[in-house]
Amino acid sequence: MSKINKCLFPAAGYGTRFLPATKAMPKEMLPVLTKPLIQYGVEEAIKAGINTMGIITGRGKRAIEDHFDISYELEHQIKGTSKEHLLNDIRDVIDGCTFSYTRQNHMRGLGHAILCGETLIGQESFAVLLADDLCHNKEGNTVLSQMVKVYEKYKCSVVAIEEVPADEIHKYGVIKADELETNIYRVSDMVEKPSREDAPSNMAIIGRYILTPDIFDILRDTKPGKAGEIQITDALLTQAKKGKVIAYKFDGKRFDCGSVDGFIEATNYFYNHSKES
Ligand code: G1P
Repeated sequence: MSKINKCLFPAAGYGTRFLPATKAMPKEMLPVLTKPLIQYGVEEAIKAGINTMGIITGRGKRAIEDHFDISYELEHQIKGTSKEHLLNDIRDVIDGCTFSYTRQNHMRGLGHAILCGETLIGQESFAVLLADDLCHNKEGNTVLSQMVKVYEKYKCSVVAIEEVPADEIHKYGVIKADELETNIYRVSDMVEKPSREDAPSNMAIIGRYILTPDIFDILRDTKPGKAGEIQITDALLTQAKKGKVIAYKFDGKRFDCGSVDGFIEATNYFYNHSKES
């Protein structure tokens, strides 16, 4: 199993918590300051040495494809003006990566979305990044970069985890695990969105995964679980039982930009950070 070269971005969800803003605009395009969430995700993947991006889209998501493409009209208008530098980051992203898209045409859960990405990944280990979990590390050592290092050591699937308060545990996949070394755990159980009483711990999975390619066959055999959807958490539990899955308590901050509160918190944090640097 070699280097991680590809990252999947499941982006077919409706973003109902942000209606009406997300009625005609993908939730992944909501900006924190001036940058859409999905661009933060792509930049995080690039910092982890990845330059092949696979995006799982759906109806009404074309703005994502346009964002990661050249806008000749805009380039023409802005060239030589004082605003041109505002396009520097996105130009670098477009020049440095390839983007491929496939559609998830039924909403059957995150596991199903990842399975739809098989055609973009093939038989190699890959990263998965959920753009509404926005992560930041002050030293620039991104969560995905940290996870790639863990993967290189353990050569198995890796999930990022964070301790969350008891009243929020029902929003996440939750693990039970034994500590192998500081911040690195071997998973023995995993439950998707348990009640507070049934949660095996307070360690929640956040939207960063590195998956080995056998996950696709496992997902094909995974029955619908919580909410009648195919859950990546259930597939990972199968993988953990057959072999090994590592949970990694990352170094950095994470914002749940899938919720209005988390989005506002992220906006304030990034604004203050931009003033400091
Ligand atoms: C998904 C996963 C869940 C994970 C979460 C992280 O849930 O199913 O296990 O904890 O992402 O953000 P979602 O937030 O898509 O409902």
